[in-house]
Amino acid sequence: KPKKRAGLLRWSWRFTKLAAVSGLGYLIYTIYDMRNPADQEEPDPSKKTLVVLGTGWGSVSLLKKLDTENYNVIVISPRNYFLFTPLLPSCTTGTIEHRSIMEPIRNFLRHKKASVKYYEAEASKIDADKRIVYIKDESEIKADSKSTEIPYDYLVVGVGAENATFGIPGVREHSCFLKEVGDAQAIRKRIMDCCETATFKDQSPDEVKRLLSMVVVGGGPTGVEFAGELQDFFRNDLRKWIPEISTNFKVTLVEALPNVLPMFSKQLIEYTEKTFDEEAISIRTKTMVKEVTDKYIKAEYTDPTGKKVLETIPYGLLVWATGNALRPVVRDLMSQIPAQGDSRRGLAVNEYLVVNGTENIWAVGDCAIANYAPTAQVASQEGAFLARLFNQLARTEEIEDQLKTLSVAQASAKTKEERDETLTTIKDLQKRARRTRQLGPFEYSHQGSLAYIGSERAVADISWFSGNFATGGTMTYLFWRSAYLSMVFSARNKMLVIVDWIKTKTFGRDVSRE
Ligand code: FAD
Ligand code: NAI
Repeated sequence: KPKKRAGLLRWSWRFTKLAAVSGLGYLIYTIYDMRNPADQEEPDPSKKTLVVLGTGWGSVSLLKKLDTENYNVIVISPRNYFLFTPLLPSCTTGTIEHRSIMEPIRNFLRHKKASVKYYEAEASKIDADKRIVYIKDESEIKADSKSTEIPYDYLVVGVGAENATFGIPGVREHSCFLKEVGDAQAIRKRIMDCCETATFKDQSPDEVKRLLSMVVVGGGPTGVEFAGELQDFFRNDLRKWIPEISTNFKVTLVEALPNVLPMFSKQLIEYTEKTFDEEAISIRTKTMVKEVTDKYIKAEYTDPTGKKVLETIPYGLLVWATGNALRPVVRDLMSQIPAQGDSRRGLAVNEYLVVNGTENIWAVGDCAIANYAPTAQVASQEGAFLARLFNQLARTEEIEDQLKTLSVAQASAKTKEERDETLTTIKDLQKRARRTRQLGPFEYSHQGSLAYIGSERAVADISWFSGNFATGGTMTYLFWRSAYLSMVFSARNKMLVIVDWIKTKTFGRDVSRE
C-alpha cells in the first residue's frame, strides 16, 4: 500500500508540473498573440457596409463575435476605448485606477480577421431615408476634415444614454455625474479639494461642515455603490491622513422613493440600509431634489403623515445619479420615424432588435427599449445576439447568390446528368438556407444583480434555476469581486485590476489631488 501511495503521489506531482508548464505556455502565447496581431484581410468594397455606433457594452459585444470578413465594418464613437462600467465607482476614490478598466478599441479591432475602420467622432444625425450617418470630430484637435457623411447598408445604434436631470434647475451646472472616466476623475479631484479646503486656515465651522458634506442623489445601484466606496475611502484612508476632517465628514444618500435599490429583493434592501446605518452613511428616502445651487440642494421630504416639507442640504461634493435620458441623436432619429411615436425612453425595437419602422437599423443597449433594464448584462447579450444575426445574414446572402448562379447553370445545362447534378446541389443549398434562417428572436437570460455596498460587503440577487437566491455580506463581496474580475475585458485589464486591489490593500489609496 505505501508503494501504491508513493506512485500515486509521484503521478499527481508530474500532473501538477505538466499543468503548470502548460498554463505558463498558454499565458506566454496569449501575451505574444496580444502584442503581435496577424495581418488582416482588407475590406472588400463589393460587400455590404455595416456601420456600428458606439464602443460600449452593446457595440463591443457585437464586434467581439462578428465575422468581420463578411462586411465592410465601420465603427464610430467619440470614445476610442471600451469602459468596464461596473468598476467605475471604484475609480472615484482610487481603489482602482481608471486605465485598468479601459481597453483601447484599436487593440481590440486589430485582432479581428478582416480589418475594421474606426473613426473617433460623434454621430450627430442619422438620416434613415438616405441611409447616411453624419459624423463630427468633437475632440480637442481639429484638422481640415472634421465632419463628414458615412453611407451604410446596415446600421447598429449602440450610443448608450445620457445622465437624466429631469430639467431640475442647477443640476448640470453644479453636480458631478458618474458615467464616464472623466466623471470619476472629476469626483476624485473634488473629494480631495473639499478635504483640503475644509482644513484651510480660519475656515468657519459652518463652511467646514458644508465642504465635508458629500451628497449623492439617486439611490439606484450607481448612487449606492459610490456612497459605499466613498465611505470606505474616508474610513480606511482620509481620516488617517487628515484627522481634522474626522468629525465633520459625512456621506448622505438622497432618494425620492421610500427605499434604495428598488430593483433588489426586500431583504437585500433592508440589509443595505442596515449596513449604511452601521457605516454612518445617512439615507434620506422619500426626499425629492427640486433645485440645486452652488452650495446646497433644495429637496422636498414627505413625512410619515404625508405632509411635504422643504429642506435645504448643504454640500461640498454633489454626485447626481438619477438614471438615464435619451441622447439627442437618438431623439432626432425617433422623430423621423412615425412608428416610434409612443416611445419616450428610447428606440422601440422588435424581437430581433430591429428599430420599429425601419428595415436596416438595429439598436442595442441603453438606447434601445426592449422591455429590459438598461444594464451591461442586457446590452452585451443583445450585442452577441446581433453578431449571430449578422453572421447568419451573411451566410444566407452567400447561399442565395450561389442559388441564383446555379439556377442559371441548370437552365443552360446541356445533358440530363448535368441538370440532375445541379438540381441536387440546389436542394442541398436550399436545405442549408432553411437551417441558417432559423435564428429565433432575442431572449434575455437574467443571471442576477450584484452591487457593492461598502465595508467589503455586497448584495446579490442571483437567478437560480427558475427561482431567485438573495445574499449579502462579505462572502458575496468576494463573489462580486471574482464575478467582475472574470468579466473584465482582457487579460491585461484583469492583471491591472488585481494589482490595483493588492496595492490598495497594502498601501491604501492615494490622497493627492490630481
Ligand atoms: P455604453 O456602454 O454607455 O456605450 C455607449 C457608447 O456610445 C460609448 O462608447 C459612447 O462614447 C458612444 N457614443 C455616445 N454618443 C455617441 C454618438 N453620438 N455617436 C457615436 N457614439 C456615441 N450594468 C450592469 O449590468 N452591472 C453593473 O454592475 C453596472 N454598473 C454600472 C456602474 C456605473 C457607474 C454605470 C454608469 C453603469 C453601470 N451599469 C451596470 C450599466 C451599464 O454600464 C450600461 O447599461 C451599459 O453601459 C449600456 O451599454 P451601451 O452599449 O448601451 O452603452
Ligand atoms: P436608477 O435609475 O437605477 O436609479 C436612480 C434613482 O434616482 C431612482 O431610485 C430614482 O427614484 C432616484 N431619483 C430620481 N430623481 C430624483 C430626485 N430628483 N431626487 C431624488 N432621487 C431621485 O439609476 P442608476 O443607479 O444610475 O442606474 C442606471 C442603470 O444602470 C440601471 O438600470 C441600473 O440597474 C444599472 N446599474 C447597475 C449596477 C449594478 O448592477 N451593480 C450599477 C450601476 C448601474
